[in-house]
Amino acid sequence: MRVLLVGDIVGKPGRAAFLQVVNRLKAEDRIDFVIANGENAAAGRGPSLEIAQSLLNAGADVVTLGDHAWDAKEMVEGIDLESRVIRPANFSKGAPGKGWVRVDTPEGEIMVIQLIGRVFMQPNYDCPFQAADKLLAPAMNPPKVVFVDMHGEASSERMAMGRYLDGRVSAVFGTHTHCQTSDETVFPKGTAYITDLGMTGPKDSVLGREVEPVIAKFLTGVPHKFDVAKDDPTLEGAIVDVDMGTGKARSIERIRVRL
Ligand SMILES: [Fe+2]
Ligand SMILES: [Fe+2]
Repeated sequence: MRVLLVGDIVGKPGRAAFLQVVNRLKAEDRIDFVIANGENAAAGRGPSLEIAQSLLNAGADVVTLGDHAWDAKEMVEGIDLESRVIRPANFSKGAPGKGWVRVDTPEGEIMVIQLIGRVFMQPNYDCPFQAADKLLAPAMNPPKVVFVDMHGEASSERMAMGRYLDGRVSAVFGTHTHCQTSDETVFPKGTAYITDLGMTGPKDSVLGREVEPVIAKFLTGVPHKFDVAKDDPTLEGAIVDVDMGTGKARSIERIRVRL
């Protein structure tokens, strides 16, 4: 089973890149299942449920969110209507939505979990390591194949999660920082890992935003409007080949496709 993992989709250029590249990879029979991070899909901000569903219609099997999950009030109100859109599992207890989903495929069941880090992030998230333990406990009867989106700022925290879950899940992949890392690997006990998938959006930018206002903000400290940039739409992510019988990863391949 080949699973495409897609780095943070940013705005319209990101959605366009996603649609084109996923269709191409599916037509070439290179992927069977798609997990996409959609936390910046709406003009760089968190999507409404409708926009998240447009990613499902465009070829995603599961859409993960992140710290931008509640930017759109339509998502706060709508997330419980769509099980294939998930937010971090270690959000506060009363948060709407779920942090995991189990999806039946012709090849077998896949569970997708999202976690969020606490280093350089909001202090009110629960411990992501303990949240992972709870979801993977025998009482939950997790399937063999589990993919974990570890949304975080610090590479140390994401890598520690990858190592912590080695042998218990098929893959741990980082999202949020929009800069693809070149450390993709399969850990000794069979868990595929990459610290950050990168960004799906306009590469001629600062993390997806127009360059000039970001520089001006750094130079002056005065708030500027950060519109989503337009040029060089690109999809970044990785393809993990997983053995559905054992749940172990066979390989992870980092990808960057420019339109
Ligand atoms: Fe984020
Ligand atoms: Fe992001």
